[in-house]
Amino acid sequence: MFYLTTAIDYTNGSPHIGHAYEKVLADVLARYRRLRGDEVFFLTGVDQHGQKVQQTAEKEGVHPATFVKRTTRKFLNLWEKLGVDYDGWAETVDPRHKACVQGILTGLKERGLLYKKGHSGHYSVRQEQFLSDRDRGESGDFGPEWGEVVLFEEENWYFKLSDQTGWLKAYLESCQDAVLPLFRKAELLNALERNSGTDLCISRPKERLRWGIELPFDPDYVTYVWFDALINYVSFAGYQAAADAGLPDFSRLWTTDERPVHIIGKDILVPAHGIYWLCMLHAMGFPDAEMPRLLVHGWWNIRGEKMSKSLGNIVDPDELAEHFGVAALRYYLMRDISTGRDSDFDLDRLVMLFNTELANELGNLCNRALNMSQRFTAGVLGHGGEVTAEDEALQSSLTEATAAWRAAMDEFEVSKALEAINRHVAHCNGYAERMKPWELNKDPAQQERLATVLYHLAESVAHCAVLLSPVLPEAAAKLADQLKLEGFSDLKLADLKWGLLAEGHAIGKPKPVFPRIVVEEPAE
Ligand code: MSP
Repeated sequence: MFYLTTAIDYTNGSPHIGHAYEKVLADVLARYRRLRGDEVFFLTGVDQHGQKVQQTAEKEGVHPATFVKRTTRKFLNLWEKLGVDYDGWAETVDPRHKACVQGILTGLKERGLLYKKGHSGHYSVRQEQFLSDRDRGESGDFGPEWGEVVLFEEENWYFKLSDQTGWLKAYLESCQDAVLPLFRKAELLNALERNSGTDLCISRPKERLRWGIELPFDPDYVTYVWFDALINYVSFAGYQAAADAGLPDFSRLWTTDERPVHIIGKDILVPAHGIYWLCMLHAMGFPDAEMPRLLVHGWWNIRGEKMSKSLGNIVDPDELAEHFGVAALRYYLMRDISTGRDSDFDLDRLVMLFNTELANELGNLCNRALNMSQRFTAGVLGHGGEVTAEDEALQSSLTEATAAWRAAMDEFEVSKALEAINRHVAHCNGYAERMKPWELNKDPAQQERLATVLYHLAESVAHCAVLLSPVLPEAAAKLADQLKLEGFSDLKLADLKWGLLAEGHAIGKPKPVFPRIVVEEPAE
């Protein structure tokens, strides 16, 4: 079983392009693994508790429950629009999640891994948080952004993180693929060096934060952020759940034969997933062989700058999908970033990549293959005659592209996989220009050769539709439909052999699948 999760998104705002990227990436990897014939469970969802939600709801004069219901809708609608096909949906207000969190906390407390202690220090009344020396400005004082700062004492519950970090270091050093890409693991190990002596505060008194899950052994407190959010990866996978809870069978999802993969952004590797979560799992009794693999992606920036509300440069994926179409957006999000690295979100490149690689190159190939078959051979494909060196080269190009595509997808490198498809498409267009089926059509003696050439083009389109399907499921289905490729939705990679289209196969009417994006010039 391939159990894939994404980070759950905070519901104190609206989804932006970074959220969309992560969900589409996960969707593409899940679709790829389904295509490989693997059983897949893809979990995503929303992070609904916490201070920020409580504050925003208060400002808007609604109960936090009402507020998160509203914001959660926006995420649900967007994933539906973008074709994100998940199997499990995590909402942290779900009572089944709450029961799981409380069960885990009780277990850890019974085993002496949680303790209560007082903490005194500087506290920002406006931000409702304790401050450390790192929060001081250059002058040594706490800046005006913190508002009134008072000395304050508070008791809280702590998780004995420091008991676990020795194990974590050894685990990270011994496990090759604990964190991907590898340079992120080095970052994590460095952070661990600096961080290993401290414990993790896991609670907030209810007078400060009400919108959370109550500690089962101290009703004046709620759990704070990570002991709620991170647990979604196991709670919605059925961990310690009742058989009739309507959740999956945990032992099938969380296995040693293929460890779960958590897709997260680089900002939540250290300390949340890389330190807290792995240590929490270890404390809960998970062996090394069941530790999840962390796939850490980079960020989309805007002209080199972080996207933020205060900069007003947030890109709204909903608007983009409306304006340019879902295919253009999904393609861009997968094509213009290398997994693990950052990239700049650039609308000109979105339009350029769609227009050159899809509308021109692939669109041209589809149009040639389908249109000429309709016009020259009445839509009926034949295997034709003798296979020439040119035909063999085309077949080798397809074999090479498919292997490169597959290797890249196995490494989570979707952009490289798309490049591999594009190489084959370019090969096919070159082939069409050299073989000139429009000339062959004029010569009655060349009808067999014409059939061979058209067959090679149409068969290539059929393969490209399958290879593109994880990224562009709708467009791929349209191509398959025009080719009348039967059983397309059930095709698996093992079926991907030369000869998908049989001798005498009749194709359908061609219709452009990738209409060029025309950018309106602003009025003078
Ligand atoms: N709720 C926490 C995660 C809890 S996981 C148990 C959270 N939420 S978030 O809404 O801030 O971010 C959700 C995901 O979106 C994270 O993986 C984060 O890295 C990712 N992104 C947020 N901004 C991003 C970009 N600009 N670009 C790419 N991904 C980004 O963190």
